[in-house]
Amino acid sequence: MQTTAILTIKHCLFCLFLFIAFPVCNSKTYANAINNNTLTRMGERQMTYNLPVPKTDGHTSVEKALTNRRSHRDFQNKALSPDQLAQLLWAAYGIASPKPEYSASRSGLRTAPSAGARYPLEIYAIIGNVEGMEPGVYRYIAEDHKIVRTVDKDIRNELCEAALGQSMLKTAPASIFYSAVFDRMTARYGERGQRYVYMDLGHSAQNIYLQAESLQLGTCAIGAFRDSIIKQVLQLPANEEPLYIMPIGYYQ
Ligand SMILES: Cc1cc2nc3c(=O)[nH]c(=O)nc-3n(C[C@H](O)[C@H](O)[C@H](O)COP(=O)(O)O)c2cc1C
Repeated sequence: MQTTAILTIKHCLFCLFLFIAFPVCNSKTYANAINNNTLTRMGERQMTYNLPVPKTDGHTSVEKALTNRRSHRDFQNKALSPDQLAQLLWAAYGIASPKPEYSASRSGLRTAPSAGARYPLEIYAIIGNVEGMEPGVYRYIAEDHKIVRTVDKDIRNELCEAALGQSMLKTAPASIFYSAVFDRMTARYGERGQRYVYMDLGHSAQNIYLQAESLQLGTCAIGAFRDSIIKQVLQLPANEEPLYIMPIGYYQ
């Protein structure tokens, strides 16, 4: 009799525990899910944004994007959303097929092919007018799908001057900038690795063109700029060479 009573009390306590604990666990999972889809800002000294999770499906067929893709140079004065920026960065060089067994710096295969999966490109977001985000230059960290600020001011005017006055760089709300660490490729492939870097760049930049088209945004590959000035304006590390600037915005 006494044993039955103890068992009943134990059972009740266990049910009470489940009743309290289950919603707590559940709400935590829910909060994480929400955070995954929201722009999260972390740290003031080295400002970092965890980016919204990219979409892996859309409404524009590849054929339609290929047909309609054009270089656009006239942009509206309209902010981009963090989702749009995050989607474009992911399309450029994000992780498409995570490989936990890879080293932390690679951590998976990306949206663009790369000779020997060496991934020599560095991608930056140059932010002028993106909702809820501080202007500046940010390095894209593909393995964590986040951006980390490297220059803490709006550089769009200087960028335009460095690119021979191409005004689209001033009017576009944001640009994606490419540099490359050539050593990553030439260390394995010698001199031939240099051409592989340019091939990698083409694959990645075309992804931006097609993703922009799918988001009904415009871009233009810009290769005409003064390297030395660009390096200064973006405060690039000595081992990085500038390659492309791609302004992004709503076209006229
Ligand atoms: C390597 C390269 C460099 C380019 N540099 C510039 C540039 O500095 N300024 C510009 O307005 N367009 C530039 N473009 C864009 C081309 O002018 C454009 O792709 C070409 O006119 C064809 O137009 P479409 O892209 O609409 O098909 C560049 C394109 C490539 C591939």
